[in-house]
Amino acid sequence: MQIRIRKDWEIGEKEATSEVDYFNRRRFLKAAGLSAGALLGGSVLNGATGGFPSRANALFAGKGLEQTPYDLVTGYNNFYEFSYDKSGPAKLANKGWKTEPWMLEVGGLVDAPFKMDVNELIKKLGGIEQRVYRFRCVEAWSMVIPWDGFELSKLIKLASPKSEAKYVTFTTFLDPESAPGQKGGSIDWPYVEGLTIEEANNELSFLATGIFGKPIPNQNGAPIRLVVPWKYGFKSIKSIVRIDFVKERPLNTWQALQPREYGFYANVNPEVDHPRWSQATERIIGGGFFSGRKDTLMFNGYSDQVAGMYKGLNLRRNF
Ligand code: MTE
Repeated sequence: MQIRIRKDWEIGEKEATSEVDYFNRRRFLKAAGLSAGALLGGSVLNGATGGFPSRANALFAGKGLEQTPYDLVTGYNNFYEFSYDKSGPAKLANKGWKTEPWMLEVGGLVDAPFKMDVNELIKKLGGIEQRVYRFRCVEAWSMVIPWDGFELSKLIKLASPKSEAKYVTFTTFLDPESAPGQKGGSIDWPYVEGLTIEEANNELSFLATGIFGKPIPNQNGAPIRLVVPWKYGFKSIKSIVRIDFVKERPLNTWQALQPREYGFYANVNPEVDHPRWSQATERIIGGGFFSGRKDTLMFNGYSDQVAGMYKGLNLRRNF
């Protein structure tokens, strides 16, 4: 059994809504024609400081989306710092790797660089909210996940980037003693990712500190990870220790590893196949044998929010 130190923004076991309750509530709300926001709106579940429970953001309630069961979201992972096997991270990321306290450093071309404990940062930014997003991996599988966290633009505002800052880079921790995958393999550790400053400021760009209304499990990128739902999952970098505002476009880990197959933008695009497989459809994790596949949507279904950023860009060349 794993013993966790209670975060000060976490609610106690008894106060928390169990998964079963959570799903029952959702079913009830669905039947009653209400959104989850109606119950998770804050007044029903309160009593925590700083963060949990998070407030459901009604604008991102994931209407019509079927959420992937919790045990699949937390049991089927890509986290190469720990394992190349989907079931490996759930075991290996919980074998003594400490994700709290956790400092996040924000710097580069900014007026207000800072280094802060993640819990402090959550408090400073006014707590967290819940958003339900589609999640599409470049390997052609997908999930629907309720993330808890805050909009990346809030952190950007706090750091106050200079006008020369055109890109944002994100860096994962480096600790080969805790993360055995970092002792070898072909990845040049630590894992890094990047966005244009416009992408980072998009309303969808999110820093997740929880899933399903609870702190994010280690295997999902504790204690803080990026979520950019219109891009392939590898852009959603886990367990971030540094965020830097820079002038030049960074070389992200997967592009560095295999530039013919993985680009910088990595926008979900059913019309541009991976050199080794089609991206036209996706396997729904937990979808079962008969209803387990669906067509992949342009920008993973988020065209309204993001397509404007890519006007005039050749998406086939800039994959
Ligand atoms: N971040 C780090 N640091 N290391 C990784 O191996 N894998 C990426 C991304 N972020 C990865 C990472 C890939 S390929 C995917 S599909 C998602 O995390 C998986 O997130 P999940 O395990 O929470 O579903």
